[in-house]
Amino acid sequence: MPVTNYTIRIQRKRKTSDGRIDSHWKEYTVKATETTTILSVLEEIKGEQDGTLTFRQSCRSAICGSCAMKIGGRTRLACKTHVGVVARDNVVEITSQANQPVLKDMAIDIGPFFERIHKITPYLAEGPETDAVTEETAYDQVNHVTQCIMCGSCYSDCTMAEVSPEFIGPAALAKAFRFVSDPREGQKTRRLKQLAEPHMMWSCARCAMCVETCPKDVKPMEAIVKLRTRGVAKGFNDGPGPKHALAFHNDIKQSGHLNEFTLMMRTVGIMGTLEELGTAFHLLKKGKVPSLFPHKSAGLAELAKIYEILEQNPLDVETKAKEVVPE
Ligand code: FES
Repeated sequence: MPVTNYTIRIQRKRKTSDGRIDSHWKEYTVKATETTTILSVLEEIKGEQDGTLTFRQSCRSAICGSCAMKIGGRTRLACKTHVGVVARDNVVEITSQANQPVLKDMAIDIGPFFERIHKITPYLAEGPETDAVTEETAYDQVNHVTQCIMCGSCYSDCTMAEVSPEFIGPAALAKAFRFVSDPREGQKTRRLKQLAEPHMMWSCARCAMCVETCPKDVKPMEAIVKLRTRGVAKGFNDGPGPKHALAFHNDIKQSGHLNEFTLMMRTVGIMGTLEELGTAFHLLKKGKVPSLFPHKSAGLAELAKIYEILEQNPLDVETKAKEVVPE
């Protein structure tokens, strides 16, 4: 495989004595093939060119999660990412994870990330809801979330964490789903109640960045959607999130169309609607006026049938993970 000169642009970061982060971009030239990993490139720079470069690594096998950093604009594991995949015109840009406090260069303070994980009590709790019998398929729902290696990539690329640091984040919610789904867990309802609180499962904006970014295919957003479904089924419907989802559900079921005119009122109530009058006025000025008289969709009978099937088969809505049968 041909060896090429790659320019590696690294955002060097350093904490100043008053707690600010000083940063500047620095370029290094490294000889590599397309399949050389970014981690090997960083080691080459640290070993041969600049010993002050700081980053974390341990397993080199996409297992420990310590080498997650922003590479080519997306958070990835350095040990799993090939230079040829992320280089643009032979240039690779690398910086630290976003939404996490930086210590130096690509080394971040992982404390706040794990504080979020601890909020959901990341271990099984005894209680009355432990399943008496464990079905053969009981772990189908759990399997994909147990792949999480806590690398923080999903939190780094999460658009909601960027605007709302209080948001617990996709990794913690995927972990919560793992316990809510575990037949041995004894306090599933208590967990769902906690997850219905502000900054928890209903704060996700469903941008799907966590699904795209996750290096282990955990699909945190899918877990969040399932958690919401279970929370609503348990009656934890107080708050704009579940109200909004239920308003959508009822509108589509009844008419096949969303009644946007009353959606805001049903989501945030009269006071919340009054607070949003400025936005509504802005939309009116742009000609985005929802219809006062929403009509019924032509395919309503077919839609009713779809609802009927989905409501009778809730597990199908949850996208059961397929069991992989070894050949
Ligand atoms: S070094 Fe362990 S995941 Fe990359």
